[in-house]
Amino acid sequence: MVREMWTDDPGWRPIQVESTALQMIAHLTAGVFAGRQLCRDREWIDITIQYSMTAMVASEQLWRWPGWTRRLAARILPSCRLLSAQVQRADELAMAASQTRKNEAATTREVRTEQSTSYHDGLEWMEECARGRPYRPGVAQLSVTLGAVGTTKDLLMQVLYDTAGKDDLMDALREEIIAVVSEHGWTKAAIPNLQLMDSMIKESQRLKPVGITGIRRTPATDIHLSEGGIVPKGVPFEISNMHMWADADLYPNPRSFQADRFLRLRRVSGHEATAQLASMSADHLGWGLGRNACPARFFVAMEVKVLLCHLILKYDWTLEDGCLPEVRRYGTFLSADPEGKLLVRRRREEIDLDGALV
Ligand code: HEM
Repeated sequence: MVREMWTDDPGWRPIQVESTALQMIAHLTAGVFAGRQLCRDREWIDITIQYSMTAMVASEQLWRWPGWTRRLAARILPSCRLLSAQVQRADELAMAASQTRKNEAATTREVRTEQSTSYHDGLEWMEECARGRPYRPGVAQLSVTLGAVGTTKDLLMQVLYDTAGKDDLMDALREEIIAVVSEHGWTKAAIPNLQLMDSMIKESQRLKPVGITGIRRTPATDIHLSEGGIVPKGVPFEISNMHMWADADLYPNPRSFQADRFLRLRRVSGHEATAQLASMSADHLGWGLGRNACPARFFVAMEVKVLLCHLILKYDWTLEDGCLPEVRRYGTFLSADPEGKLLVRRRREEIDLDGALV
């Protein structure tokens, strides 16, 4: 598994963090949701990236029209027309990918081989759920991708900023990856053993969750608070996330980034589970809480860790001179700095993950 051949020193190169993270997450997400064929299709990736922006502009423009005129306005407004064209094209590409699979399955049956190609991805799952009923696979794909790519890209960006130039941390993370992959192979079972990485990502999310608030609810009945107040039925409310980065009783030295904070917390009785990245608790509302907590948190944790294993083994990165990433605030939303730049340098990886798939 150890790579012997590596002679070039490619030197440091600047990268724009947001566009790089967006490309990586869009490809990975497409691999899981839409499958191998579409995740390598440039047009598909471009649509999944652009769709969320087009949808935001189109909805913002449509809101300016009175409700009863919106159907007509949607036919005229350039943003809505672009959105329809993107959805239409996504349908064509997804249907073509589905058809390729059906043809493959038919051929497999004709030649009567025992070996059939099976797919484990969103495209296949949607086909199974549809059970022959008509549906628009492009619409279905874009609906899930819409909430998935931006949030995960944002988490990855923050992790890249928080780890930039921290050589000791990178060495410790590399040691962990090498030890875990050597013991468990490059398998799904290996990933939960990446405990320092798990803690480091959770710490990034603690200091920069998706918003100043994480939970929005509209109570179905009056809620009587223990201190005596009432949240009346039907009145929407939000719960602050501020304790995550400001409460020193919960998190000593709360504003400092400590990559191993949750690794240490895991060893404290009662916190073994809640200190893990995909867990939720009132102390860390990065995924929300309760029945409506983010259902994709296990998937996201897995996706980001797999990607980080590759990045950490294959690259060094540091902030570009003068770059001091700042969390941006849009209303109650928080976003990793969209303008940050890193210097990135290829390194010789100690183990070859690309060749280690089992
Ligand atoms: C880093 C990435 C992500 C973060 C930080 C995140 C965070 C959140 C948060 C804070 C909530 C609100 C939970 C609550 O109200 O208690 C939520 C809900 C939700 N998320 Fe995520 N999310 C991420 C990725 C994803 C992805 C990739 C998907 C889909 C594949 C997804 C699908 C959803 C859905 C469907 C809900 C609504 C759940 C419900 O109302 O029952 N999220 N997410």
